[in-house]
Amino acid sequence: MSNAVSRVALKLPRHIAIIMDGNGRWAKSRLLPRIMGHRKGVETVRDIVEESSNLGIRFLTLFAFSAENWSRPKTEVRSLMTLLKKYIRMEVPRMMRNNIRFNVIGSRSDLPDDVAFALDDARRITSENSGMTLTLALSYGSRQELLDASRRIAADIAEGSLKPEDLTEELFSSYLYTTGLPDPDLLIRTSGEMRISNFLLWQLAYAELYFTDINWPDFNRNELMKAISDFQSRERRFGLTSDQIRSGSAN
Ligand code: IPE
Ligand code: IPE
Ligand code: MG
Repeated sequence: MSNAVSRVALKLPRHIAIIMDGNGRWAKSRLLPRIMGHRKGVETVRDIVEESSNLGIRFLTLFAFSAENWSRPKTEVRSLMTLLKKYIRMEVPRMMRNNIRFNVIGSRSDLPDDVAFALDDARRITSENSGMTLTLALSYGSRQELLDASRRIAADIAEGSLKPEDLTEELFSSYLYTTGLPDPDLLIRTSGEMRISNFLLWQLAYAELYFTDINWPDFNRNELMKAISDFQSRERRFGLTSDQIRSGSAN
C-alpha cells in the first residue's frame, strides 16, 4: 500500500455530509439557464457517490433540496423534481452494482407522488445492500425535523410510554429522521458560502467543517480527496485537551 493510500485508510471519516451548493452560479457564469447547472450537478453526484463508496466511506449524506427551496420559482422546482426522479430511476442499477443502500430524509409528504414512489422503490430495492449508505436530504429542514421529534416525544410522554427523565441524547436522536445514522464527521459545503442553511443542526454538533469556493458542478474526486486530507490533518478534541487526546486517556 502506498503512503497516501494507507493514510486514507487510517483516518477516513465514517460519515461525510455535503451541502451541494453553487449550481445556479455555475450556470450563470456560463450564460446558461440555472437548470443546466443542476444537470451538471447530477453528474458530480454520480462521481462523488462512486468515489466515496470506492474509498470505503460508510455513510454519505447529500443535501439536495431544502424545505426552503420550495419557495424558488415554480419552473425551477418542477425541473429539479423531474431531474431527481430521472436520477433515482437511472442510478438504482449502479447502486446495486456498488452495494449501496439508498436512504432519504426530509418531509416525504411534500414531494410529488411520482418522486416519492421512485424514492420508495430505490429504498426497497437497495435495502439489503451492506456497503455505503447514501442518504439524500429532500424537502429537508433541520428545525422542522427537531420540531417533529419534539412533538412525537411530547405525545409519547402524554400517553405515558415515555418518562421525561428517561430522555437521553441517544433516545432523542432516535426520534430524528437520521435515526440509525452516526453523526457526520465531516461537513463539506461548496460555492464559498459559509453557513449551515438549516442542515442537520443537532447531528453536526462536533463535525469538522470544510468550505471550498468551488461550485458543486466543478467539484470532483480530487476536491473530495482535498477535503478528506484536510479532515485528516485536524485534531478532534471533543472538549478535551490536546495532551489528553494524544495520550489516549480522558483523565
Ligand atoms: C444548489 O445550487 C442546489 C440546490 C439548492 C437545489 P443552487 O441552486 O443553490 O445554486 P446557487 O447557490 O444559486 O448558485
Ligand atoms: C442549501 O443551499 C440547500 C441545498 C444545497 C439543497 P441553498 O442555496 O438553498 O442555501 P442558501 O439559501 O444559500 O442558504
Ligand atoms: Mg445556493
